[in-house]
Amino acid sequence: MNTETAFETFLNHCDEETWSATLAKLLRSIHEVDRNATQIWFAFYPLSLFRALEQAEDREKLEQQLLLQGDFELKNQIDTSHSFLYGHRFWPEVKRDLEQHADNFDQSERKSLADQILTVARSAAKTSKRDESLLVGITAAGFMTIEQTGLAAFKSAPGTISLDQKLTRKSPEQILRERAKDDSQGLLGFLKTVNKQWTITWNENDAKARYKLREGQDLAWGAAEDQTRDWRAIDSRRIEGPIPVECRSASCGTCWVGVLGGAEKLANVGAREGKKIKEFGYIETAEPKPLIRLACQAQAQGAVSIVIPPWNGQFGKYLRALREDQTASAEVISPKTNSEAERNETVN
Ligand code: FES
Repeated sequence: MNTETAFETFLNHCDEETWSATLAKLLRSIHEVDRNATQIWFAFYPLSLFRALEQAEDREKLEQQLLLQGDFELKNQIDTSHSFLYGHRFWPEVKRDLEQHADNFDQSERKSLADQILTVARSAAKTSKRDESLLVGITAAGFMTIEQTGLAAFKSAPGTISLDQKLTRKSPEQILRERAKDDSQGLLGFLKTVNKQWTITWNENDAKARYKLREGQDLAWGAAEDQTRDWRAIDSRRIEGPIPVECRSASCGTCWVGVLGGAEKLANVGAREGKKIKEFGYIETAEPKPLIRLACQAQAQGAVSIVIPPWNGQFGKYLRALREDQTASAEVISPKTNSEAERNETVN
């Protein structure tokens, strides 16, 4: 028996293209504090990978083939995957209003995905008495979460958050100021050309989640010197420091990170990083300073705030081949359609 709700049917028709057009449209409505974070969240939970796994004949085999490690499924982290968004603090209100929206969804209204996201963000902003722009990113993440988990699983998550009260009191402007700030290099720091030290923040919700690195060191190198916690106990992929690493040479893809603030203070993407990050599937861009980087390649030239995804894999090549297969089958079908049209014309 098909128990799919009308809202789920609508979302299941929202493919990657719809989502990327929706995000492009929404970006200008998202507060600056969450503009990068929202794009990073969508890169961390790609719809194309979710669909490929869902449609695989042997899912377990495909997961192994793509070397997926860690928590790549949203169903296990409905209330937590977006904790690095400022809007996460409004998640209880967003989740409640999104569920109401799903229950009252009326397909005949023919509202676009972007308009629906804005409607829910507006209503949750009214309840939380905050500016709508602070809730658009988290609301978009909520819609995608339902698309990947289903409405029943989404509703069964408690909708609670756990944040340090002191940190939640920070205003968006304060967070933006902190992200922009560089470490002082001492009284004569402006004369220093070597041995400059920079702070890397790897979790803005944890006041102690910081480490230092020296000018020119890559993000992973600096992280490895951080011995303050039992990293393996926190995440078995973390063999040293907060960032999981294996090869340190852009070969494994374990060390990918999102850059919340300070992307411009990282060295440009080199040829190898640029080629491999696309092969892994993390990002498709020719930008010299993108929001997703390989930590073992990205050298810091200032203080940076990053977020570490809870999983890694190598799926870019596979998804590209899948797309090409689908395009090829569509092309095989279309000549038939043309000849049918020609036949019909002849008959008429
Ligand atoms: S540690 Fe392997 S790609 Fe960075």
